[in-house]
Amino acid sequence: MNGAALAAVTVDHVTKVFSSGTEALSPVSLRVEMGSFASLVGPSGCGKSTLLRMVAGLTDPTSGTISRSWPSGPEGIGFVFQDPTLMPWATVAANVELPLRLANPGISTAELAMRVTGALQLVGLQGFTGAFPRELSGGMRMRVSIARAIVTRPRILLMDEPFAALDEFTRFQLNEDLLALWQENRWTVLFVTHSIREAVFLSERIVVMSPRPGRIVADMPVAFTVPRTAALRDTHAFTDTCAQVGAAFGGGMAVP
Ligand SMILES: Nc1ncnc2c1ncn2[C@@H]1O[C@H](COP(=O)(O)OP(=O)(O)OP(=O)(O)O)[C@@H](O)[C@H]1O
Ligand SMILES: [Mg+2]
Repeated sequence: MNGAALAAVTVDHVTKVFSSGTEALSPVSLRVEMGSFASLVGPSGCGKSTLLRMVAGLTDPTSGTISRSWPSGPEGIGFVFQDPTLMPWATVAANVELPLRLANPGISTAELAMRVTGALQLVGLQGFTGAFPRELSGGMRMRVSIARAIVTRPRILLMDEPFAALDEFTRFQLNEDLLALWQENRWTVLFVTHSIREAVFLSERIVVMSPRPGRIVADMPVAFTVPRTAALRDTHAFTDTCAQVGAAFGGGMAVP
């Protein structure tokens, strides 16, 4: 890792205790470099979503600080939730343009159309601007959700188990497409997943968290060069790396 690389976000000794008394995170410190692809993995309930929401500024830490390299406001962040949560009554184009309209109420119709078309092209959904969510497959709805997250050209893409609900074939395909997009655009990505194989395939770095209250128990670089192709998943080196990440869980989690 290049020590001189700029930080996109720096999480410094952050804790979170909910008003219910639940201690979600014990102090967590994490520096995510600009342009990097990092995954957060850890057992259910260890505070991954809580950490992501705090990075996004959707909820405040109980103690500690988060420094962001982008100005406050939603434009700096693209958030992809596990459930695509598209507006069912609105077309694909209307769903994708919403964050742009919110961020920039004066935006021209021509600029809107150009940006929406561009985002849909990136996720391979050109030609679907007029479709409604019910007319799309689960994988296509997730692609719309990604287009909606990148249309504002965010500084960081926060993805919370975006592909967990998809079948393996679709998930692999979206993993490959996401990786290709990242290689072309070098967004900063912080990606949460339960799947060690998905984390190893996608990431340059895997941050492993302990059971709740979550803390970081391992921070492992993933050395495979880019571009990575589907064939990587069939190599011994890939299987070995998955086993090493699995071992960092202390045997508490099987490699799915
Ligand atoms: N708004 C809230 N109020 C109270 N407790 C909460 C709230 N949000 C999360 N928690 C609790 O904080 C802990 C961490 O939750 P979080 O959703 O961050 O875990 P997670 O690692 O994302 O889990 P999963 O992998 O199942 O999505 C859990 O015990 C959860 O019940
Ligand atoms: Mg979660």
